[in-house]
Amino acid sequence: MASGNFKCQFIHVSGSAAAKEKETKMKKHTVTTLQAQKQRGEKITMLTAYDYSTAKLMDEAGVETLLVGDSLGMVMLGYDDTLQVTMEDMIHHSKAVRRGAANAFIVCDMPFMSYHISIEQAVANAGRLVKEGLAHAVKLEGGIEFAPAIEAIVRASIPVVAHIGLTPQSINAFGGFKVQGKSRDAAIKLLGDALAVEKAGACMVVIEGVPSEIASIISQKLTIPTIGIGAGNQCDGQVLVYQDMLDMYGNMKPKFVKVFGHVGAAMKEAFAGYIEETKAGTFPSEEYAFASKLEAADLEFLNELNLDK
Ligand code: KIV
Repeated sequence: MASGNFKCQFIHVSGSAAAKEKETKMKKHTVTTLQAQKQRGEKITMLTAYDYSTAKLMDEAGVETLLVGDSLGMVMLGYDDTLQVTMEDMIHHSKAVRRGAANAFIVCDMPFMSYHISIEQAVANAGRLVKEGLAHAVKLEGGIEFAPAIEAIVRASIPVVAHIGLTPQSINAFGGFKVQGKSRDAAIKLLGDALAVEKAGACMVVIEGVPSEIASIISQKLTIPTIGIGAGNQCDGQVLVYQDMLDMYGNMKPKFVKVFGHVGAAMKEAFAGYIEETKAGTFPSEEYAFASKLEAADLEFLNELNLDK
């Protein structure tokens, strides 16, 4: 911390282009800066992002990690769940997010069945998300049973974020979107999963749909940051699907979602205004149009010109 402060002061005094570039670079979020946040008890912010413009807004606002979640299947592509999402979908959206985010740490979800068949396939697909999707890290759902896959991906120098608890790719096995880790045995299994993914080399773990007390115990026992969604406020950070927190996606309203802005309603209002003014012919007014510099006689000439003959 002390040396970090010193560097900032030095940059401020020097004011050179190189120093400014260094200052920008210093704001970049990495596995190391996120780990340091946990150590000093500073909460980590993560939001889902799927496109350039939204990623840029989030990055400019200072969100530290952007998750290109396979929730894009639901909120961007209109599927009922995340299971149909492909590697190509993830790569396409991840590239766009990376272009928009100068400083955020980009995590890209590994889609359903992209890491289940073999370790080799898991490593190859993780590699594609980094090489083609330009992600900094990949996320995969599952605990102890995926520890070998996590180890192999980490061995290939790709940071892995694990995801435990209510893992949406397993909704058919769970029988729906259900809170996990409620019983004593289920909580023990969850804790075992958390410790196993940490041991396998995961750099962070998302804990979804888990009682707050259990997520809190896990967060204290792990040295890597925990990112909660529906897991209480004792995790080291939080993540939300941005369409949920902006009230843009009405198909599902999980209890853990807090609406931070009624953007859906604001968008609808703007669309209605556009329709009204366009239908009335009041849009575009002169302010939004280009005026010709031609003389009135030239305009009249053009008006009477008949090119068909
Ligand atoms: O796909 C996603 O958006 C996620 C979050 C819900 C954590 O995995």
